[in-house]
Amino acid sequence: MTPIVRTVADLRQTVRGWKAAGEVVGVVPTMGALHDGHLSLARAARRDCDRVITTIFVNPKQFNNPDDLKKYPRTEEADAALLATVPVDLIFAPAAEEVYPEGFATTVSVSGVSEPLEGRMRPGHFDGVATVVAKLFGMTLADRGYFGQKDWQQLQVVQKLVLDLNLAVEIVGCETIREVDGLAMSSRNARLTEAGRVKAPVLFAAITAAAADIRAGQSDRMAIREAAEKVRAAGFDRVEYIELRDAGTLLPSDDPTRPRRMLAAAWLDGVRLIDNIPV
Ligand code: PAJ
Repeated sequence: MTPIVRTVADLRQTVRGWKAAGEVVGVVPTMGALHDGHLSLARAARRDCDRVITTIFVNPKQFNNPDDLKKYPRTEEADAALLATVPVDLIFAPAAEEVYPEGFATTVSVSGVSEPLEGRMRPGHFDGVATVVAKLFGMTLADRGYFGQKDWQQLQVVQKLVLDLNLAVEIVGCETIREVDGLAMSSRNARLTEAGRVKAPVLFAAITAAAADIRAGQSDRMAIREAAEKVRAAGFDRVEYIELRDAGTLLPSDDPTRPRRMLAAAWLDGVRLIDNIPV
């Protein structure tokens, strides 16, 4: 079985040995409840790096809702069994007090890219993400960090964090892994009802059609409005946003010569689903 390390001191001791031998270390930060999306990141790290660390830490600082934090699934044994199939070299699963000891006083806040969309809907969320990701890089001494495009805005926040703080980590953004019907894999999908699960792929289908229409010359606004209507008509409770943005800055963009991203968040069965695709 993969060794599970709980303290920064033990982690550092192992990683220092690897680095002394000239090995390249990759880290895959997660909050556990692993599925094939997470495993695809670990597999990418396995291909690129000599050593792979997966971190499992449900980061209290990125939850704005205490109930959400309490309810977050904790499935360490099953996670370890899945990671053994990759395999990874080490699981770092610290307690909250190890990551945030008494007197912890620092917050990393990336302005700009963390403010719209998810940042607007979940105040403080990206400060929590940036703080813990900066710490995980410091703790693991990783050369490469693997993140999913599923959380496109998070990926941009992490890229900017690394750039602005001159962190010696190369960020690798990995493609979104989907169910056969197109639904992006997420631990939240398990909370959908059977009927909701049937409707859920409409979010991806609607933004995919909108992106195609825009590429074919339809106006951005019209294509987005049609996508939102499709999602509502399929039985979603609410469309929080469907937006076309500059892929890097996440500012509104009507410049089709630059890489753009369509990002969406919508509620179904009381579950908040997000997705995004290139345009
Ligand atoms: P978590 O939601 O556990 O996701 C861990 C990583 O898996 C993230 O980089 C996320 O983008 C990626 N991921 C999730 N679903 C995916 C899918 N269907 N396809 C590809 N990648 C997918 O994101 C977090 O945890 C946290 O914010 C974290 C970065 C660990 C900081 O606490």
